[in-house]
Amino acid sequence: MHLTRTEELMLKGEHGSSIQKAMEILVTVGDIYKASKLIDVSSVHISGISYRNARESGAKLVEAFASSGRRFVVPTSSNVLGMDATRWAELGFPEDFVEGQNRILRSYERMGIVPIHTCTPYYSGCILRSREDVAWAESAALIFANSVLGARTNRESNPTATSSALTGKTPLYGYHIDENRAGSILVDVHCELKESSDYSAVGFCVGSQVGSEVPVFLFKNSNPNIDDLKSLGAALATSGEVALFHVIGITPEAKDQKSAFHGDKPIDRIRVNGSDTRQALQVFSSGSEEVDHVMIGCPHSSLTELREAASLLEGKRVHPRVKMWTCTSAAVRSIGERNGVVQMIEKAGAHVVTDTCTVNVPCKDLGFKTMATNSTKAAKYCSEIDHLNVFVGSLKQCVQCAIDGRWNGSVS
Ligand code: F3S
Repeated sequence: MHLTRTEELMLKGEHGSSIQKAMEILVTVGDIYKASKLIDVSSVHISGISYRNARESGAKLVEAFASSGRRFVVPTSSNVLGMDATRWAELGFPEDFVEGQNRILRSYERMGIVPIHTCTPYYSGCILRSREDVAWAESAALIFANSVLGARTNRESNPTATSSALTGKTPLYGYHIDENRAGSILVDVHCELKESSDYSAVGFCVGSQVGSEVPVFLFKNSNPNIDDLKSLGAALATSGEVALFHVIGITPEAKDQKSAFHGDKPIDRIRVNGSDTRQALQVFSSGSEEVDHVMIGCPHSSLTELREAASLLEGKRVHPRVKMWTCTSAAVRSIGERNGVVQMIEKAGAHVVTDTCTVNVPCKDLGFKTMATNSTKAAKYCSEIDHLNVFVGSLKQCVQCAIDGRWNGSVS
């Protein structure tokens, strides 16, 4: 890989040991993917900050980076933590976990992180333009950046994103290159999709079939909004390894089918209808059962989604056994407080949780065993990693479940 004179000096340690380490990581990745050179990035989003996932090895790596006194050289935002940074005591987080999480957080703060702690940075002011080269981690955030905003990023990890934040560089490969952004599989969605959980189901169904290809969606009977696209992308990146999808007429570089496929023909075509998505969701629990946790807001809720939850909860009361979490960012919660929707949700006995989500918290310590959610991403990870019984359905079904204290799949 070609390096400029300055980059060579950075790699040799002339700019300090943390920059040298960062360059070693970027050059190693670049060599693996046969990158021709490093390019500048204008923004970084770092995931893997939750103490639950980072543990001691992750904490030590970031402490080593921070100990050099170097600061991030481009705007760098944070993905979720393993706890709500302000309400952790009220929500029952163990103090030793909070201590570990705060060690990681303090290290990132020393390097100048923008502490938004969310997987929806675009709802917290971190917005990108089409063709902007960035280095974003968190599969749900980066797929949105690539596919809805038209920015350019690969699937970054915690070490590569941190290295990009310290150097302002990333290797030129993958989705930074025009030809790799062409659509490859045409996906005809025939069923009518009414809400975000429907898009989450379609994404889950399609992701498992397309692997790391670039699907191009044609929605025959639906018109997705921003929250729908967010849910679609998160699910595609969960059951598959999708980092870029096109929706014809929405993705900036896919104004029509020809441009989405860069003038070529699709290598395959998938047709999706209601029975396909129902079948894909059969991996999750079914029937009727008592539930102790309801989680909505994966990816983190927008203000519109908080409003929907508030209106479904108005005049109702969450069952005393159920901890209902509506997860969002501190920025969206703050606007929601001014708007009165946070108070409506909390009056019903639910929590508007910020900075984290069920997938990133120590579920066992919090006593969660059976949960309901409207997100296939949360459902997959909570059932596979934490071995929770998980029910998946619409927002309305989840709210009703929180009120009843049990899942009843027949509510529509
Ligand atoms: Fe975000 Fe957590 Fe879901 S990080 S995408 S709410 S698993």
